[in-house]
Amino acid sequence: MKASIVLLPGDGIGPEITAQAHRVLQKIAAEFGHDFEFSSHLIGGIAIDETGDPLPEATVEACRQSQAILLGAVGGPKWDDPTAKTRPEVGLLKIRKELGLFANLRPIKLFDQLVDASPLRREIIEGTDILFLRELTGGIYFGPSGRTGSGENESASQAMVYSVSEVERIVRLAAKAAQGRGNHLTSVDKANVLEPSRLWRQVAARVMETEFPDVKYDVVLVDAMAMHLINRPKDFDVVVTGNMFGDILTDEASMLPGSLGMLPSASLGSDGPGLYEPIHGSAPDIAGQGIANPLATILAAAMLLRHSLGLETEATAIEAAVSGVLESGLRTADLARGGESIGTEAMGDAVVERIKAS
Ligand code: NAD
Ligand code: IPM
Ligand code: MN
Repeated sequence: MKASIVLLPGDGIGPEITAQAHRVLQKIAAEFGHDFEFSSHLIGGIAIDETGDPLPEATVEACRQSQAILLGAVGGPKWDDPTAKTRPEVGLLKIRKELGLFANLRPIKLFDQLVDASPLRREIIEGTDILFLRELTGGIYFGPSGRTGSGENESASQAMVYSVSEVERIVRLAAKAAQGRGNHLTSVDKANVLEPSRLWRQVAARVMETEFPDVKYDVVLVDAMAMHLINRPKDFDVVVTGNMFGDILTDEASMLPGSLGMLPSASLGSDGPGLYEPIHGSAPDIAGQGIANPLATILAAAMLLRHSLGLETEATAIEAAVSGVLESGLRTADLARGGESIGTEAMGDAVVERIKAS
């Protein structure tokens, strides 16, 4: 298969981890006889430094022409000035919006080999397999915002807005995903307090009753969900929620498989290229040291092959290679819990080495 893939390395550990996922995709192309054409473009802080814009038009254009996009991470202390004209994160929010990537799939799957890497007890986490569907182009992230007044009287606001159609499309997708797995959907909201959550709950209930009566469906308030997730993670199958709740809950959920450095994601729209990235950020505290875990990005590359290119066998080959590497005992520092560890590139080497066409 011929495919063009855009790489957006970004900032901090972004370039380090994207380089390893790139090598993995090149090995897949060589082993399985595909012709992947890669091009690298600017996003985030590095794009601000070089062009003044966190999402240059050339990047958007290249993404539109591609079949799929693999992103590292954006942001860092260098660009954190609250009075700055723009920020790296704006680039990421804009590319999601511009490409209509309303559905962010975040699988929380425990590799058996990592049971002891989690700070949680084995009997709680063993067998955890949750798919989060985070709404990605609406909610409080994109609501009207602004500041008024000055000095002591200055105030700031950002509104959470959801429309019926935004809720319908993400709930439908989540319900369909549930049908292909454990047939159980949990919707998470804050309907006891927030008006957009009450709309979300009404619309979700109607979609589920009328279109998916066969899918087991329940609702949980977000504060309670934060607790249930680490107390009884095995009770959840597919979880659908809004933009900010999904952001926070999935970072929390990363402690089930043991590290933020293990969680990939896919951002999909109704058509066009998908965007694949780890759920973690640019990790400024470890950037440049060559110790970041590249597995989340490598697993995101597997999702890219599965969802945007339809290459299920190749995606499975990557996941099997990652599993094999973990089985062999190799760990980056985030997973080693003080024990022996290897660096980013050595982890990339180990995965690349294990990828075989049969
Ligand atoms: P972070 O996810 O970058 O890091 C949180 C902690 O997890 C840090 O201790 C970090 O070292 C560790 N960590 C993250 N990824 C790791 C990996 N692959 N291997 C080993 N350890 C890893 O979150 P933060 O520190 O709150 O944010 C840093 C910057 O990243 C901010 O500017 C933020 O806006 C940005 N950010 C970007 C994205 C993205 O590009 N998608 C996501 C989250 C945060
Ligand atoms: C993520 C990040 C982003 C988000 C930021 C960097 C805009 O935290 O991808 O989870 O909040 O969506
Ligand atoms: Mn996040």
